[in-house]
Amino acid sequence: MTRVDDGVFSGVAASARRRLPRLFADYVDGGAHGEWTMVRNREAFREWGIVPRGLKNVETVDAGVRCFGQEWAAPFMLAPVGFAGMLHPDREVGAARAALRCGVGMAVSTFSIDPMEAVAKVGGAPLAQIYVFRDRGLTRDMLARAAQCGMDGIIVTIDTAITPVRERDVRNGFRHLSRPTLIQMAGMMAHPRWCLGMAGRGTPTIGNLAAYTSAHGIMGQAKDMAAQIDPTLDRAGLEWLRSEWKGRLVVKGVMHPEDAGNAIAAGADGVIVSNHGGRQMDPSPATLDVLPQIVDAVEGRGDVVLDSGIRRGGDVVTALALGATAVSIGRPWAWALAAGGETSVEKAIRALSQEVVDILGLAGLEDIAALRRRGPQALWKL
Ligand code: FNR
Repeated sequence: MTRVDDGVFSGVAASARRRLPRLFADYVDGGAHGEWTMVRNREAFREWGIVPRGLKNVETVDAGVRCFGQEWAAPFMLAPVGFAGMLHPDREVGAARAALRCGVGMAVSTFSIDPMEAVAKVGGAPLAQIYVFRDRGLTRDMLARAAQCGMDGIIVTIDTAITPVRERDVRNGFRHLSRPTLIQMAGMMAHPRWCLGMAGRGTPTIGNLAAYTSAHGIMGQAKDMAAQIDPTLDRAGLEWLRSEWKGRLVVKGVMHPEDAGNAIAAGADGVIVSNHGGRQMDPSPATLDVLPQIVDAVEGRGDVVLDSGIRRGGDVVTALALGATAVSIGRPWAWALAAGGETSVEKAIRALSQEVVDILGLAGLEDIAALRRRGPQALWKL
């Protein structure tokens, strides 16, 4: 397949690919089926230029934004990434610390190695990503835990009713990892830094879900719990979730204006325009392509965050010019974590923030409010 470019994250992406055993590197990098969606997500940004402007006072540029009721120093958050804690011993808690220091948002995946309670302790009011499980009692328990540990809101992911084939994972036997084969073991041993780092943390479990399954090993646990994701979830199911959760509710995986309208009508406070970074539907349109229709459907009744393919400051500014409140990054922070733990995540966040500031300045925009005022006129369709 065409290798998509990793933008400002090229260094950490390359380092992650060197440091991680192949099956984890491919787990992060890969997408569903032909991986066309991943390519399209990047290509869509190339169709837009940002018009340079001069004769404006841009001595100080502020990229801060208000999103999901929080104030962020830069207009992006860390997306929920399952198994991130398997990439480096600093785990999700380390990433949360980096996000907090940089003043950006963070969401904890249902499939996180560190339980949400540990991530919440870091502070900075993260958001808990949840699924509606077939067992509503179990879903209620996740909600109760989220409320109890002080999560600022929940993000319910709706694009995983079906688990598609990810060919790289099939090739690597990723989903059968509970009993590693000799080849898999050899592949791990060939990455001693990763092995040593992980060995110090004992037998990994999906800390966030371990209490709900008696399966052994992270893959057994993941399989058990993935089977719990409720494929019957519909608008009534979302309304049920709304009635159970009093805090902020965000719906993730929205790619159609009608779904956005339904989410808002069911009481969601915002949506995340996402094709799961090309890991679910393939082929799917790029998120940037569908963004304007979704912004129209939401009609200002909630925040609209976009993810999938954000790799440069220019991508962030383009998405905001087309109506996104903010954006979210998945693989980039996973690569950074794998490359060098918490410190690398912090550097990666700062690198992206700096690019956003530079691009805003070069476009003659002193802040995000000015970008919103200029809107699509800040752009040039190539
Ligand atoms: C994800 N994503 C994801 N989303 C979610 O709601 N729950 C999850 O557990 C996961 N797990 C996960 C694992 C890995 C390895 C990746 C790369 C992604 C999707 C994620 O939140 C986000 O939508 C995409 O990663 C955004 O695309 P980019 O930034 O990776 O291109």
